[in-house]
Amino acid sequence: MTSKPVLVSGIKPTGDIHLGNYFGALRQFVEMTNKGEHECFIFIADYHALNFIQDKAEMQRLTHELILTYLAAGLDPAKVHLFKQSEVPAHTELAWIFDTITTVPYLMRAHAYKDAEAKGKEVSVGTFNYPMLMAADILLYDAAVVPVGQDQKQHIEYARDTAEKFNRVFGETFVVPEPKIVEDVAVVPGTDGQKMSKSYGNTIPLFASREEIAEKVMSIVTDSGSDFPENVYAIHRLIKSEVELAEQYDTNKGKYKALKEALIDDLDAFIAPMRERYLSLKNDPSIVEKVLEDGATAANEVAQVKMEAVRKAIGVSE
Ligand code: ADP
Ligand code: TRP
Repeated sequence: MTSKPVLVSGIKPTGDIHLGNYFGALRQFVEMTNKGEHECFIFIADYHALNFIQDKAEMQRLTHELILTYLAAGLDPAKVHLFKQSEVPAHTELAWIFDTITTVPYLMRAHAYKDAEAKGKEVSVGTFNYPMLMAADILLYDAAVVPVGQDQKQHIEYARDTAEKFNRVFGETFVVPEPKIVEDVAVVPGTDGQKMSKSYGNTIPLFASREEIAEKVMSIVTDSGSDFPENVYAIHRLIKSEVELAEQYDTNKGKYKALKEALIDDLDAFIAPMRERYLSLKNDPSIVEKVLEDGATAANEVAQVKMEAVRKAIGVSE
């Protein structure tokens, strides 16, 4: 292992990746890991996804899509260990240990749990414990930074509290991690102006074809009472500078169709190189297998050393 600070993050394979995922999470992964300043672990949170996806074929499909996405979006396996959470058993083992030092009232304060409760859902134990599995994901690697979207901030707080609690009870073992949230793209709006989310049906897929982009952009809701299309601009702003846009939006004041057409061109140009990489990787499954195998080997090596220290600290091994 190098002495570089560690970066850890992950995405659950629960749906097709959209621009919100890209600008809220993936792009930061790519930028931060390519700088070479960190030892990087980026994983597919398949055991987190199991709370939502309970269908073998769908789990396999979404997992495969996510690894293709990681690679197509620009994560370089020479600079980042890419792996599946389920291939590193220490994640679930450590989550159990954290469960034993965590109280029910404390977990009941988690937003995800409260939202599910408020909707009258019967919450699974896995959903309830979600923050402890996530704490394990992060703390196993001594992560210093965890790039995430705004909605994950509370989960990082849980990981920090859990590290501190463990260290207090069993002695200094874990590093207390920091979240890294890019403020100006903290929430990417969807075609209806709400947060872009697969749950709202307002997404633009990351590898959309030009036709799909056109269809989605044309469906962006615009307020007929104003001459400025807020929702078009909010997406445009992610891929073009304010200065360039100011001129374009000024010249085309009130012309929604022209502005939407400009957004289609810009999005297509932005997405095209990623889409090409995605399509070519799709035809070469052996690359993907090799990346995941190497990633799991590297992750297991680090995780096992940490687990030995943890087992000693709690007194189950000498
Ligand atoms: P979804 O809302 O579509 O279900 P997920 O919850 O699976 O997306 O999110 C995966 C990652 O993408 C998380 O890190 C999350 O913070 C980020 N993310 C998702 N949607 C957005 C958005 N609209 N704006 C910014 N980040 C987002
Ligand atoms: N909970 C995160 C999400 O829904 C995914 C995730 C799981 C994660 N474990 C993690 C993110 C560890 C960062 C670090 O997006």
